[in-house]
Amino acid sequence: MAEGMVAKGLQDVVVDDTWICKIIGDQGKLYYYGYSIHDLAEHCTYEEVVFLLLKGKLPNRAELDQITRELKEARGLPYGVRDVIKSAPKGSIPMDVLRTAASALALTDPKPGDDSPEGRYRKAIRMVALFPEIVAADYRFRRGEEPVASNPKLNHAANFLYLLHGKEPGADAARTMDVALVLHAEHDFNASTFTARVIAATMSDMYSAVTGAIGALKGPLHGGANEGVIKTLLEIGEPANIKPWLAEKFKDKNFRLMGFGHRVYKTLDPRAIVLKKYSEKTGRERGTTKWFEMSNEIEQIMKTREKPLYPNVDFYSASTYFMMGLPPEIYTPIFAVARVVGWCAHVIEQQTHNKLIRPAADYHGEIDKPLPPIDKR
Ligand code: COA
Repeated sequence: MAEGMVAKGLQDVVVDDTWICKIIGDQGKLYYYGYSIHDLAEHCTYEEVVFLLLKGKLPNRAELDQITRELKEARGLPYGVRDVIKSAPKGSIPMDVLRTAASALALTDPKPGDDSPEGRYRKAIRMVALFPEIVAADYRFRRGEEPVASNPKLNHAANFLYLLHGKEPGADAARTMDVALVLHAEHDFNASTFTARVIAATMSDMYSAVTGAIGALKGPLHGGANEGVIKTLLEIGEPANIKPWLAEKFKDKNFRLMGFGHRVYKTLDPRAIVLKKYSEKTGRERGTTKWFEMSNEIEQIMKTREKPLYPNVDFYSASTYFMMGLPPEIYTPIFAVARVVGWCAHVIEQQTHNKLIRPAADYHGEIDKPLPPIDKR
């Protein structure tokens, strides 16, 4: 193969079969097991989506009760993991704490080597249940507060907000978080999921795969972008600054506007359509639509450029979370709280139809060079 013929970044390369998720990028469509993301966001809770992604079908009422019970029973942060979180040096990056704590979950698993289908399902439920507790414990330790115990009356999303703030959220905030979790739960072979699948394909364990995925999600070109979006909005500060700010930044051809562009979507990301509504709704509920309006104005400017760019999932999630009173450093961890189920579903799929993932590379150096002795190099 001639130099330059490689599909850089594996762009458009199909690397495996999957039954979990379908994206039609040029039409802005996204499906989990065949169900449109718009229907899922409107009609389902995160618990239903967890069941769908792990079992391949929507739960009936009895099955939903069962998985809700399983998720609640799996709550309760092990002391060892809590200590890991508490011992993080002051100023640690929250995604580093989450990655370390996720890895520590393996040490507190009663059967870490059980990779039977039941064992994998149990680990998936355990991670889904414990990720909110990890993120919230870190959030509270940083503020000099002790973690609070999960509230058995609350569903996954409402309990997450309860764990963060130590008080029951209102119905609107709980539903907004639930929708955000549904929208972020799964997205086929994105960078973090592919990372998880590569690790799983060595027949390593689910904790290792998810720990690696968290590392991939952290990057600003992936899940880290949502934190970048709010920093951008705060830096711009006022609507009047938007145009000059963008004009100045785009003088640098390497500038990347966080929350815009996507490898797969070449039109509006369907998740951004839903989150845009929640950004506006949350702004109205909180009595300030400024961040929503600024976001909308940026969207309008970007789509009328010579080379249009459209918002991705991170764009409107940032203003939504901000108006919910959540600090920027927690936005990428929230993404992980949602996506952990997608990673686990892919680990299960990979290991059920496994083939080691070991691609080839196009080498451009020399070979068979004579090896000079050390004094002659
Ligand atoms: N800001 C400015 N220009 C962007 C851009 C952005 N956010 N996203 C894409 N572009 C431009 C690139 O400059 C490039 O232009 P060129 O053809 O003139 O060189 C073109 O669009 C293609 O971009 P490229 O980076 O090659 O596409 P990709 O598929 O490799 O990248 C992303 C996809 C997501 C990494 C990229 O859009 C990006 O960096 N976005 C910002 C980070 C972000 O929001 N990430 C979250 C994704 S869900």
